[in-house]
Formats: sequence, structure tokens, C-alpha cells
Amino acid sequence: MEKALFIAFWVVQLIPFTTCLLHRSQFPPTFLFGTATSAYQVEGSYLEDNKSCSNWDIFTHLPGKIKDGSNGDVAVDHYHRYKVKQGGMIGIVINSIWYEPLRNTSLDHSAAQRALAFYNAWILDPIIYGEYPPEMRRILGRRLPKFSPKEKQKLKNKLDFFGINYYTSLYAKDCLFSQCNSFTSQTDGFVLTTAERDGIPIGPPTAMQEINVVPSGMEKIIMYYKDRYKNIPMFITENGYPDGNSPSTSMDDFIIDTNRVEYLNAHLTSLTKALRNGADVRGYFIWSLLDNFEWTFGFTLRFGLHYVDYKTLERVPKLSAMWYKQFLGGLKMENPKIIGCMQDNYYFFSQLPYAINCQNMDNHSGLEYG
Ligand SMILES: *[C@@H]1O[C@H](CO)[C@@H](O)[C@H](O)[C@H]1NC(C)=O
Ligand SMILES: *[C@@H]1O[C@H](CO)[C@@H](O)[C@H](O)[C@H]1NC(C)=O
Ligand SMILES: *[C@@H]1O[C@H](CO)[C@@H](O)[C@H](O)[C@H]1NC(C)=O
Repeated sequence: MEKALFIAFWVVQLIPFTTCLLHRSQFPPTFLFGTATSAYQVEGSYLEDNKSCSNWDIFTHLPGKIKDGSNGDVAVDHYHRYKVKQGGMIGIVINSIWYEPLRNTSLDHSAAQRALAFYNAWILDPIIYGEYPPEMRRILGRRLPKFSPKEKQKLKNKLDFFGINYYTSLYAKDCLFSQCNSFTSQTDGFVLTTAERDGIPIGPPTAMQEINVVPSGMEKIIMYYKDRYKNIPMFITENGYPDGNSPSTSMDDFIIDTNRVEYLNAHLTSLTKALRNGADVRGYFIWSLLDNFEWTFGFTLRFGLHYVDYKTLERVPKLSAMWYKQFLGGLKMENPKIIGCMQDNYYFFSQLPYAINCQNMDNHSGLEYG
């Protein structure tokens, strides 16, 4: 998640769209699809070609900093395996969380607006308007620096686009005018954020405590940005689903990643709603191409469309990789529910008129219809 992005993309043909299932044609022909990775999380080769150490090279070597004691020295060895071609536009990426009012009160609606400002607009307002968000200024006053007219001029309207990393949403509860048991402060806008309402999670939990599945937040955060920033072009630079890596989980458990497929399907559907409401979103990138070194979580979380065996560094496409490829190829996609893993390595789906040969999942002609 987050950090610098290397983006690879491919553009596919438009195929006429006939039903309301998710389909490539619900996106403009020029819409970019792809997957995202980041250098430290995949490349390894940390001392090669005269490269000097980054802060993460140092940090990961300090004892106790990474959950499983791992580091990115080898990561998933991408540096040796692929040459990354970079090009195109450069813009800033905002790790974005959507905040829902915990209760349907004006206080919690305001709290949610403050949370959105303190977490998301904090970065974008200065770049686009040359000012910190008014919601922050009202609470923090002079503690926020002021930009000089010259700095403002330098900052304003210099973005061609911005990227949105969206994974999850939280509830926001007012702590400015009402009592909160947990500690909140000026610096978080006197908002208590929580993933639960009356003990019920805001969306299905995942292996990563910070991420619940809330696809509607995708549309809402996009519309928030659209209105706040006059519809500057946006890209979804990250969106993805973490599986937990435990020694008892088999490779097959990871490869048949229906939860990931459902997550991606639901988020893309939410994105189509934002497009229909006029949001200028120009691309969507799944985090991530490969399972990789997930910062302080080490190798304990897997976000990849491709499984990586960390011992052999072998890559194996997951069902989600096949699903994405089929979606980009123009097939109508419904959430495929696996109804059985049959002999000869074929998976059958309730909704799809074909089986997937999982021995040859990276090969289009491995698809068998019927
Ligand atoms: C590494 O640095 C040395 C000394 O400056 C130089 O001779 C060599 O060509 C460099 N290697 C690469 C791969 O850049
Ligand atoms: C929230 O309250 C407003 C007015 O009190 C009402 O119109 C609206 O339907 C409520 N929304 C929800 C989600 O309950
Ligand atoms: C893809 O699969 C087909 C048969 O299923 C095979 O003939 C072909 O060689 C494969 N291509 C690659 C690149 O593996």
C-alpha cells in the first residue's frame, strides 16, 4: 500500500455492453486499468548498482520494527526479474479514508466533515488552494503555518491530477461538543474514529485490522473530491484486499481468492456510479500485482493478484488475476462463487459459463468455454 508507485497498465478494446453486470464498457475506452507496485516492496537488490540505503533499508534492519522480522533486502526479487518502464503523468497520491457519521446527528455529520478534512484535505487543499482546510483552521488556528503569497502562487493549481488510494471507511463521532471516553485531541479535529457501530463492523473485516470492506466509500470519497476540487482529474492509484499469511494456510487457500474478487468487483461497481455522476476519474489500479513486503507487516499480508512463494520466489496467478484479465477482455463479470474445484485442476463458477484451468491461469487460451 501507499508509498511510491510504479504503474504498469494496459488498454483493452471496447466491447458492447448489454446487461447491468460489471463490464469494461461501463468505463470510457481511454480509461486506464492496471496494477500498482512500489519499488521497496518488490525490488530487493538493495545494495546493487551503487544504490545507497533508503530510510526503509535502515528501519527494517532495526530489531523489532517489522512484525515477522523480515525486510526488503530481497523482497520478491523484482529488480532482477523485470525492467520497469516508466512514463506518463506524475501526480500526488492521497491515502484516502471515507468517514461516515457514527450517529445521524448534525454533530456527527460535522465530525465526519472534520475527519475528512484532517485526514484527506489536509494534503490537497494547500496544493490546490494554497491554504489549509478551513475545518482545520477553525480548530488549530495559528498552529497551522500560513503560506506566503509567493508560496501560494507556487502551490496553486499545479496538479495535473491526483491519485486516490482507497481501501476502507470509518465512522466518525463528535468529541468537540460531546464527551468521548477515548482520547481525542485538537490534532485529530476532536473526532473519535471507529470501525464499529453498536458492535457491528462498518463492513466485513479482513486480515488487516485497519481494513473493513466498504465499497460505497469509494463512490463517496470520489464525489467528495470532485466537489471540493472542481473535478480535477483523478486516478484510483490503489485499491485492494489483504489476505493473512499464516503457516497453516496452504497455497491453494491464497490462490482461490474469491474474497478479493468480490472486493474488487464491488469497488469497481461503486466507481462506475461515481463516473455516472460526472466524476473525472481516468484510471484504476489494483494493489497489487504481486504479494510483497508489506512495510511493518513484513510478509504477513498478501495483497497480490499473483501469489509469491517466498522461499522459491515463484509467482502463481490467483483467480483474481484471471478475473481481472477477463474483465479487461470484455466479459461481463458477476461475483464468481466457486462451486467446486474439480479434477484436472479446473475451477467451476456459479455465474460464469466456463471453467478456469488453474494450471495455466496466465494463459488466455487456457480458458475453456462450455
Ligand atoms: C558504481 O560506482 C563505481 C565507482 O563510482 C563506478 O565505477 C561503477 O561504474 C558504478 N556502477 C554502476 C552499475 O553504476
Ligand atoms: C438522518 O436524519 C435526517 C433528518 O433528521 C433524515 O431525513 C434522514 O433520512 C436520516 N438518515 C438516515 C440514514 O437515517
Ligand atoms: C497457452 O495454452 C495453450 C493451450 O492451452 C498452449 O498451446 C500454448 O502453448 C500456451 N501458451 C503459452 C505462452 O504458454
